[in-house]
Amino acid sequence: MQIFLDTAEIDELRAWADTGLIDGVTTNPSLIAKSGRKIDEAIAEICTLILGPVSAEAVATAKDEMIAEGRKLAAIAPNVVIKLPLTPDGLRACRTLTEEGFKVNVTLCFSAAQALLAAKSGAAYISPFIGRLDDAGVDGMALIHDIRAIYDNFAFETEILAASIRTTAHLRDAAIAGADCSTIPTKILDAAYKHALTDSGLKAFLDDWEKTGQSILG
Ligand code: E4P
Repeated sequence: MQIFLDTAEIDELRAWADTGLIDGVTTNPSLIAKSGRKIDEAIAEICTLILGPVSAEAVATAKDEMIAEGRKLAAIAPNVVIKLPLTPDGLRACRTLTEEGFKVNVTLCFSAAQALLAAKSGAAYISPFIGRLDDAGVDGMALIHDIRAIYDNFAFETEILAASIRTTAHLRDAAIAGADCSTIPTKILDAAYKHALTDSGLKAFLDDWEKTGQSILG
C-alpha cells in the first residue's frame, strides 16, 4: 500500500522525505489555509520535495471553472494530481480533465455509489473519508471494503486512496481492506512506528549488552 502524507506543511514533509516511506502527498483547501501560504507556491515546493503524486484541490464549484482551475494547478508541476469534489459538476470536470490526460483525485467520497460514479468518470484516485464517516456514526472502513469489491468486480483502475485517517488502526485496516493508498497526518505515521514492547525489548537487549563490555565497532 502506498503511503501519502496529508499535509501542506513543508517542514513536516522535509522531516519525512528521507525515510523513503512517502509515496505522495494530499492537500485540501483547509490544509493550504492552515499553512498560511499561497497555493501555487506551497504545491510547487511540495512537488520538488516529493516526486510522487501531489494532490492540489480546486475550489470552484461549477464545472467550467473547476476545469480552468484544474489546468492551472496541473501546470505547477508534472506530479500534480487535480483534486475535485464528488459533485455532479466535479465528476463532469473529472471526465473532461481525464480526457485531456490529467490525473484526478475525486475527494469527499462517503458512499460506494459515489465511488462507482467517480470510477466511471475516469478518476485516477477516489478518496473515501473514513474518520468523518466514523464521526457520523457510520463504519468508515466498511466503505473501503465495499469500494474494493466493486472496483475488483469490474476491473476499474481507479486507485482507492483511504483518507480522513485518524488512528494507526485505520491505517492497518485500510491496508487489510485493500486500499491502494492511505493518506495520513504525520502524527499517525509517527505513531505507526511505536510499540511499548519494542521499547521495553530494546531496553532489555541494551542493558544485557552493556554488561558484556563489548563494542561492535571496536
Ligand atoms: C484527504 O484528502 C483529506 O485531505 C483528509 O484526509 C481529510 O481528513 P480529515 O477528515 O481528518 O480532515
